[in-house]
Amino acid sequence: MNKLRVLFATSEAYPLIKTGGLGDVCYSLPNALRQLDVDVRLLLPGYSAVLERLSLVEVHDSINIYPLLEPIRLLVGIMPGEITPVYVIDCPTLYQRDGGPYQDITGKDWEDNAVRFGVLSKVAALFGEHHFLFKPQIVHCNDWQTAIAPMWLALSNRPYAKTIMSVHNMAYQGLFGPKTVEQIGLPPESFNMFGLEFYGKVSFLKAGIYYANQVTTVSPNYAKDIQTQAYGCGLDTLLKERQKQLTGIINGIDLEVWNPEKDTYLNRNYNTINLSAKVRNTQVLRTQLNLEASKKMPLIGMVTRLTEQKGIDLIIPIIPMLIKAGVQIAILGSGDKTLEMHLQRLAALYPKQMNVTIGYDEKLSHQIEAGANIFLMPSKFEPCGLNQMYSMSYGTIPIVRHTGGLADTVIDATPENIKNELATGFVFERANSNELLYCVQRAVKMFSNKPVWKQLQITGMTRDFSWQKSAKQYVSLYHHSINTI
Ligand code: ADP
Ligand code: GLC
Repeated sequence: MNKLRVLFATSEAYPLIKTGGLGDVCYSLPNALRQLDVDVRLLLPGYSAVLERLSLVEVHDSINIYPLLEPIRLLVGIMPGEITPVYVIDCPTLYQRDGGPYQDITGKDWEDNAVRFGVLSKVAALFGEHHFLFKPQIVHCNDWQTAIAPMWLALSNRPYAKTIMSVHNMAYQGLFGPKTVEQIGLPPESFNMFGLEFYGKVSFLKAGIYYANQVTTVSPNYAKDIQTQAYGCGLDTLLKERQKQLTGIINGIDLEVWNPEKDTYLNRNYNTINLSAKVRNTQVLRTQLNLEASKKMPLIGMVTRLTEQKGIDLIIPIIPMLIKAGVQIAILGSGDKTLEMHLQRLAALYPKQMNVTIGYDEKLSHQIEAGANIFLMPSKFEPCGLNQMYSMSYGTIPIVRHTGGLADTVIDATPENIKNELATGFVFERANSNELLYCVQRAVKMFSNKPVWKQLQITGMTRDFSWQKSAKQYVSLYHHSINTI
């Protein structure tokens, strides 16, 4: 039988390029799909980091996309340590720069992002029109950076592939001025409220949601959330209209990369049987971060983009109280400069109990997951969230707000859930500092009840967070799309 052919278009994929969970998912989901015998191949922009890390790069094709742009070359490589083929758009003027995939080193969005990701979307659509050797039946788009592809295919007279639009975060929509229409080569009449136009601007994500054959998001709860005004970021009405084609599929985690039993970044590997070895990771982390050695104080970890989404502003006012209550805090993150500054200022006030590392550090992120006792994710909204699942697998108890994928994955330590051995973490309802403080106090109190704490750890560590079930849901959706006219 012929394999199902899927092009997985994305602006990031671990270990080539990653700024957050999108990078993790665009590595682990294609791997899980290949295990289900899907011929899935990635499409990525040729950032310098991608070209440096990709093995076996060969030139595949040279194409003119826009009259004013140099011709782009399509390169093919293989994911490091994997067998997944990766198509890379080689266009040095657009992608080979110092800085991140979306922003320059000062944190400012690249001015030509519309063109940079217009080109990514266009090439994804060309694959869908079967211009190249690999002829996908599905073009699977991820986030706004690829979201014009479904529109191109809907307008095309060669719409051979069906399209899936996966929304990892509604808050990032790819909004640009109306000149974008011409810049990315779309017909002027396409700029209307049925698709591309959003309050006078071009919205990449709206186009994707409007034109894709199927829309998915990364947890069942977030699929409901985004159909409300509070979480829909202005697109809730459109999402409600597309309700029949909207599915929430919970993300999985990659158990080869995030597994305390074989994580090479850890000082000691451990599992449910030798859980006591986790302590050694805590001790080492404390030393590494210059935190006071202590057996009593729970160590609270955070690894996060420092943005409005993550509820950092809820934590800042209560840090002095938490410090007084006898906890330690280790934060790794980067993003908003004001938040960075507030956190650094607090860490300077309490050096024995609080450490803040500003930057992006893959190794330290694993060490915090393993070394912390508690992991904090008080997000205002959270499409899925991966760190709470990494935490539970590492026996690190998450504290989360009841929103999006956090609500789908963490089971609150109520007396009833503890009694039924279901509890895996601590959950609070409203996004305010008082509720968060109360929830942390609840966790800290429970920390001293060793048997219950261990039960929470083991319940989390033995939960199945793998991709198995979710990857099958994507395969069903692919088949459904192919079979629907
Ligand atoms: P989001 O995608 O919204 O940032 P997720 O929880 O889905 O949130 O995924 C975040 C991913 O990014 C995790 O793999 C996390 O470890 C990683 N990450 C976030 N910030 C950093 C950082 N400063 N250094 C290293 N890894 C980070
Ligand atoms: C986004 C979301 C996060 C999700 C990740 C991967 O960045 O903010 O909640 O886990 O994408 O889908």
